[in-house]
Amino acid sequence: MTAPIVQIDQLSLVFVGHTETVAALRGISLHVDAGEIVGLVGESGSGKSATAMSILRLLPFGKAKFPEGRITVLDRDVLDAPESLLQDMRGAEVAMIFQEPMTALNPVLRIGEQITDVILRHQSMSQTEATTLALNLLRDLQIADPERALAAYPHELSGGMRQRVMIAMAFSCHPKLIIADEPTTALDVTIQREVLDLINELVAEDGMGLLLISHDLGVMAETVQRMLVMYGGTVVESGPTDALFARGAHPYTRGLFAARPRLGWRAEASAAGRRGHRLLTIPGRVPELADLPSGCGFADRCPLAIADCRRSAPPAVELAPGHAARCIRLADADGSDGSV
Ligand SMILES: Nc1ncnc2c1ncn2[C@@H]1O[C@H](COP(=O)(O)OP(=O)(O)OP(=O)(O)O)[C@@H](O)[C@H]1O
Ligand SMILES: [Mg+2]
Repeated sequence: MTAPIVQIDQLSLVFVGHTETVAALRGISLHVDAGEIVGLVGESGSGKSATAMSILRLLPFGKAKFPEGRITVLDRDVLDAPESLLQDMRGAEVAMIFQEPMTALNPVLRIGEQITDVILRHQSMSQTEATTLALNLLRDLQIADPERALAAYPHELSGGMRQRVMIAMAFSCHPKLIIADEPTTALDVTIQREVLDLINELVAEDGMGLLLISHDLGVMAETVQRMLVMYGGTVVESGPTDALFARGAHPYTRGLFAARPRLGWRAEASAAGRRGHRLLTIPGRVPELADLPSGCGFADRCPLAIADCRRSAPPAVELAPGHAARCIRLADADGSDGSV
């Protein structure tokens, strides 16, 4: 067994506002081992980004509080870590690729300076060596004229180019884990595939772990080995990708994967992804996190809900090794046709 790069145990996160406190995450547990590709999926507002940002403590200081739980990166406690240790970890051990690179790049600095800054912060090499590495990275990422890209400001590059620059920065220090939060959602559909393939290739080359966040079930089906399905700030089901697509047990998972294709599910899910099939086919909407019901957060939308579902949060039930779901109606769910 390899030790996990990141391990989250029973993490709760609240955002403290002026008038209300929002419980964004409740009892999240997940881990990514070395070289593993894990997916995080769920509707908008389910807590995917909040989970990802918690790992590197990138949430607004003072506003984001962790009343319970633990996060470790390579066995070191993240929630108690001093800022200096967090800065050492960011980029060098765990790097992030965001959906919108414009928000992560500094608009007034040339691309070359931004990439070499990251390299020089974590690796001992000369400015010239760092520039050469930056050029090579951009070349690996199939940027046609890397010298020009290095001299450019972010606004002078296309969205696809900017995302490649972000990817170059993320990979520049050979971190153990890449967290990619909707890395292709903002890109033109024709280059989404290319960018995703590049991320996959680089991860495989370096034997890195990848935590991939995506709305796109097609992308998930093709890319990740294991998946966690989030709903209302909780992981409602987790397991091997094949098992979730073929035997997803939580009524919410079943709703997401409504067609539940068996033979050839990978191709079908992928085709569905390319058609822009989103996760919004379940009637009703995600509950307000400031006003979550006490029991199962999905009960109001669940056709199988009974009074007990609203009493207390359902415990995780193990369905097979590594496959678990939080639902007290699983036995019934199993007998149904899966339509939600
Ligand atoms: N800085 C913040 N202050 C207050 N609430 C926040 C903050 N960031 C996130 N939230 C809340 O936490 C919840 C989870 O948000 P999060 O961004 O993690 O969702 P998500 O699953 O990534 O959604 P999307 O698919 O739209 O990216 C939401 O209800 C959101 O409003
Ligand atoms: Mg998000």
